Amino acid sequence: MDNSILTLQSPLDMHLHLREQEMLQLVAPLSARSFAAAVIMPNLLQPVDSLAAVTSYHKAIVNACGAELFTPYMTLFFRDYSKDELMSAREAVLGVKLYPAGITTQSEAGVRDFDAIGTTVALLEELDIPLLVHGESNGFVMDRETEFLQVYEWLANNFPKLRLVMEHISTAAALRFLERHPQVAATVTLHHLMLSLDDVAGGLLQPHLFCKPIAKTPQDRDALRQAVFQGHPQLMFGSDSAPHPRHAKECCGCAAGIFSAPVALPMLAQLFEEADCLDTLPIFVTENAVRFYKIEPPAKNVYLGRQKWCVPELYGMVRPFLAGNELRWNLLDVETTD
Ligand code: NCD
Ligand code: ZN
Repeated sequence: MDNSILTLQSPLDMHLHLREQEMLQLVAPLSARSFAAAVIMPNLLQPVDSLAAVTSYHKAIVNACGAELFTPYMTLFFRDYSKDELMSAREAVLGVKLYPAGITTQSEAGVRDFDAIGTTVALLEELDIPLLVHGESNGFVMDRETEFLQVYEWLANNFPKLRLVMEHISTAAALRFLERHPQVAATVTLHHLMLSLDDVAGGLLQPHLFCKPIAKTPQDRDALRQAVFQGHPQLMFGSDSAPHPRHAKECCGCAAGIFSAPVALPMLAQLFEEADCLDTLPIFVTENAVRFYKIEPPAKNVYLGRQKWCVPELYGMVRPFLAGNELRWNLLDVETTD
């Protein structure tokens, strides 16, 4: 085999923000080109919390993706849902996404009282609808994920059949939690495999590296790396690519979110290659998600080649992760194989 070409079969992004309107038009084609499918987050200005909203957002995404073969797996924004509502939305969504109120971008409508979520969570368990969770408390910023582990513990213990996903884990403590709960899965971003808090705020403040959950210690980052490189069966790639216009990042009161969609696969290939683990990349970007979510993503081969390129400074109004850096792998071609 030509080792200068890397073929990824149906790579998946299991946590993606596509936004709406002009931003959607700008960013959707970038993900649709390099991924076979993605899980679309529902934190729009008006949260996606009804079947009607899911249907119209799905339509807007499909339109914005043009001719690319790409499946947007939709999610509902968590609130109290009736069984009828969930049953009728079931075919249209892959899961329900829970945000603690106010914890991140556009999450004001999220959960304020965790004692009150049991009825809806029990329905999700009964209907086998995955629950995706932004797991942060409102405590000290570096401890938020670890503090939230008690909620995950409660969910895992009280709803043993629930398909629970810890979104964008950023700590070694979350990995230890997964060891104790083999039925639970988690997504890991590219940036949490690369950054620690030092990169964000150790020198001059880097607003484009500011995201929720914030990058943690080098030890946390290294534990995440080691786990994904080893092909950890509970970890799925989810970019959490979250574009904000430049004026919302380079200002007083910087919005949280890193726009990584254009660099996700090439940079992952580089990281896995540097660790001599290219063989486990498909486990992380495809296989674990297919098994956990029981999905059949479109058959799409994505070919990456060893071809240096420089990441643009801007895509429209948005500055991408690794802007101005030279990457070793580039997307060469895609081929649908159905
Ligand atoms: C995300 C966004 O901008 O929508 N921001 C982020 O920092 N990750 C929301 C989220 O996933 O927390
Ligand atoms: Zn997100």
